[in-house]
Amino acid sequence: MSTSTDPRASTDWDPRSWRDRVALQQPHWPDAEAHARALKELGVLPPLVFAGEARELTESLAAVAEGKAFLLQAGDCAESFDTVADSIRDRLRVILQMAVVLTYFTGVPVVKVGRIAGQFAKPRSSDTETIDGVELPAFRGHIVNDVGFTAEERLADPQRLLTAYNRAAATLNLLRAFTKGGFASLSRVHQWNREFVAASPAGQRYEALANEIDRAVQFMSACGINSETLTDLRQVDFYTSHEALLLDYEEALTRQDSLTGDWYDCSAHMLWIGERTRQLDGAHVEFLRGVRNPLGCKIGPTATPEEVLALCEALNPDRQPGRLTLITRMGATKVVDLLPPLLKAVSESGHPVVWVCDPMHGNTFTADDGRKTRHFEDVLAEVSGFFAAHRYTGTHPGGVHLELTGDDVTECLGGGSDLVTADLADRYETMCDPRLNGSQSIDLAFRLGELLRNGNN
Ligand code: PEP
Ligand code: CO
Repeated sequence: MSTSTDPRASTDWDPRSWRDRVALQQPHWPDAEAHARALKELGVLPPLVFAGEARELTESLAAVAEGKAFLLQAGDCAESFDTVADSIRDRLRVILQMAVVLTYFTGVPVVKVGRIAGQFAKPRSSDTETIDGVELPAFRGHIVNDVGFTAEERLADPQRLLTAYNRAAATLNLLRAFTKGGFASLSRVHQWNREFVAASPAGQRYEALANEIDRAVQFMSACGINSETLTDLRQVDFYTSHEALLLDYEEALTRQDSLTGDWYDCSAHMLWIGERTRQLDGAHVEFLRGVRNPLGCKIGPTATPEEVLALCEALNPDRQPGRLTLITRMGATKVVDLLPPLLKAVSESGHPVVWVCDPMHGNTFTADDGRKTRHFEDVLAEVSGFFAAHRYTGTHPGGVHLELTGDDVTECLGGGSDLVTADLADRYETMCDPRLNGSQSIDLAFRLGELLRNGNN
C-alpha cells in the first residue's frame, strides 16, 4: 500500500475529488486545527483491512448476485465506544447462529458481513436537537460526539476520529481471533446457544437444528472429514462494513494497493452510501465510485428507476458482478408496489447488482411511551414482500440487512417472546435505532429460512 499517485490509477478521480462536491451530513468541527491534525495522523496509520480481502468479498457477492449464495449483513445501528468484549462476541455469535439456520434452510453459503468495527457515524434529520427549550447539536455517532444531552457531550471532538480508528482496530482484531481461532467452528453450534436462548422458543428450535448439524458433523468426521482436515469447518470468513458517512475519515484511510494500483478504502471491507447521501452529483457518490471495495447503496421509497440506473452507472460502470449491492428499505406496506419497477429496470439494463432487503429503516415508528421502535411482524412482512417482488420479476433476492445485537435488549416489539410496549423500558439501550435482540434475531432467521425454503425465492 502507498499513498502516492500511481499512473495506473484513473486520472479523473482521486481520494480528494469529493471535496469539490456538496457533502451532506458532515459535522461542524469547532476546532479546525485539531481536526486537521487528527486526519493527518489517521493518514499514516496502518490500514484496517487488506485490499485482497475486499476483492474476496466482491467475489463472494458475485455469487450472491447469481443466486448461488445469500448475504447476511447485520449488526448495530450505531456502535458505541463503550462496547465490551462479551457484547462483541455475542453479536458475532448471533450472526453465526443465524447463518447456520439460513444455510440449513437454503442449502447455499451465507456471506457474513457485520455492521461492526467502524459503524460509528450517524446521519441525522436535523443538525440540532431541542429538549425543554434547550437546543444542542444532534448526536452524530461516537466518532463525532457523545449521546448525553449537555453542551460538552455534544461538542464535535476530533480526537474521536482517532478513537474510532482504534476501537475499530480492536473490534476487528477480536473478530478475527474468534472467526479464525476456533470459536466459529461448526462443532460449537451447541455452545453458541448455551447461556443464551436455550430456554426461549427460538433457542429450543435452534437446539433441535444444532442436534441435526452435530449428527452431520459426526457423520463427516467418521468419513475422515473433520475440522483438522478441513479448515472450512473450523474457520469462518467474516467481513466488516459501515456507512461511509464522514468522508474525511474515509479519505484518510484510503490507500493505493501496490499489487493493482487501485484505491481501496481500508477502513472496512464493504462501505455503503446511506439513503440521505446518495445524490448522484453529491460528494458520497463521487468518493465511493473511485474505491474498489464492494459498495452498498440504500434505496428508499422515493427512488425512481432512472435514479437507480444512474447510480448503477456511476458506481459500477464496468458492470463488475459483486461490486454493487442495492439495499432496499421501502417499508412493509410499500415494498410490493415500489420494488418491482426498480427490479425490472435494473434487470433489463443488465447491471449485475446484489439486491438486499433492509426491513428495518422503513418500519420505524414511535411507540405510545415515546420510544422509537419497530415491530417484528413488520420486519418479517417487508422481507416477505421483498421475496414476492423478486418472484414476480424473476430476479434473485440476495439477502438481508439487519440491525441487531446479541444482548437481551427490549427495543423491538413482537418476536418469539412477544415483547409489548410496556416491556420497552426494561432494557432499551440503543444510542440510535431499535435493534432486534438475540432471540428475535434467531426467530427471524427461522422465519426467513422457511420463506426461502417454501419456494418464495
Ligand atoms: C442506517 O442504516 O442506520 C441508516 C441510517 O439507514 P438509511 O440510510 O437507510 O436511512
Ligand atoms: Co439505523
